[in-house]
Amino acid sequence: MFSIKNHQLYIDQVEASELAKTYGTPLYVYSENKIRAQLDTIKEAFLNKYPDTHAAFACKAFCTKYMCRLLEKEGFWLDVVSGGELYTAIKSEFPASRIEFNGNNKSDEELIMALDYGINRFVVDNPSELYHLEQLCLDRSTKANVLFRITPAVSANTHDYISTGKKDSKFGIPLDDDILYPLVASAIKSEAIHFLGFHFHVGSQLHEVNTHLSALEVILQLILSTKERFDYTISDFNLGGGFGIKYTDADQPIALSAFIDPIMSRLEEFCNSHGIIRPHVSMEPGRYIVGEAGVQLYTIGSIKQIPDVKTYVSIDGGMTDNVRPGLYGAKYDACIANKADYEKNTLVDISGKCCESTDILIKGLSIPEPQFEDILTVFSTGAYGYSMANNYNKLQIPAVVIVKSDKHQLIVRRQSYEEMIEREI
Ligand code: LLP
Repeated sequence: MFSIKNHQLYIDQVEASELAKTYGTPLYVYSENKIRAQLDTIKEAFLNKYPDTHAAFACKAFCTKYMCRLLEKEGFWLDVVSGGELYTAIKSEFPASRIEFNGNNKSDEELIMALDYGINRFVVDNPSELYHLEQLCLDRSTKANVLFRITPAVSANTHDYISTGKKDSKFGIPLDDDILYPLVASAIKSEAIHFLGFHFHVGSQLHEVNTHLSALEVILQLILSTKERFDYTISDFNLGGGFGIKYTDADQPIALSAFIDPIMSRLEEFCNSHGIIRPHVSMEPGRYIVGEAGVQLYTIGSIKQIPDVKTYVSIDGGMTDNVRPGLYGAKYDACIANKADYEKNTLVDISGKCCESTDILIKGLSIPEPQFEDILTVFSTGAYGYSMANNYNKLQIPAVVIVKSDKHQLIVRRQSYEEMIEREI
């Protein structure tokens, strides 16, 4: 995805500094070829290798109409978690038959929107959601496909804020028999619910399969006990997302097949040994598809040297366009796009422009000697950057550009000042 010519960094075959000049900074840039390469890996390691499977993009990672259309053409599904994400899908004419709806507090308004559009399935997170969904279906004489999100009570080796499968979690139905089984029973017997099976999502940015495998054991026992207690064979199992990517050299992501193969082989072995038909298997990766495909471009402004302490290099964006360092202590790598092969002889902290001392994008970065108006490129910012952008300090949400080979195209224009205040009465 990257190369260097005449000291300039290229994204595919487009000069990064040229993009900064054309569209202004801060700027989100995605390589379509890299996104497609990730989709191809999912096809190879999962969809084409194992029959009766599907993959939904967790669109919270980068929810735009462009992304919905690309996924639609490539045969992928969409995992939405809100009315806003569903609205984006609807406006992209994403087929309802390939949409699933996650989330721990879907409002009636959102459920109705999804039922009206006729989405494929709901991942129900708690008893009250099942009750509301059932009532809404009865009112409409319709039936909803439902999976139960289970809290498998496993801990993932990742940042606590993005570990979601622990027993004490706001997500999912706890494993307690007196909560779970009455709920399974009521879903099975409801005339408004078609109970498909179980779902888990154990955490994000994972570099090992162990957590998925522990959670799988929980699901296997549930498949069995659902059969024994209710004589009911589930038809679907969703293994969530969470596959890690490379942000810095400290990350050693494992191949997607190193996640998928052990899960599928354990599932198949279990089903064979119990004479159960292997359920349809789905996954919902977000970061894996778009994370490494995105970079952010910034213009360097003030540079402050504090003798014997450090050098702060300030950029024209920060925690408003990438909140991850401030929120999770996330680490990134970066370079100066117009000095891409210069010697990295200066140690700096990259500071954002927000009035927060925590608005430091990167600590201890080695770069060539920085100058006013150099273009800083931060790598692997494609997931949860644009989608978590905010207007703190009334900074504008940056534009988004797609690069494909030697072409580039604006897919989201920069927010204007007027747009920022137009809802204010
Ligand atoms: N499925 C469910 C139910 C999820 O909650 C998530 C992420 C995913 C799939 C996709 O996970 P992924 O493959 O992208 O790891 N904002 C945080 C990440 C929060 C993830 C929340 N759920 C970050 O920037 O690291």
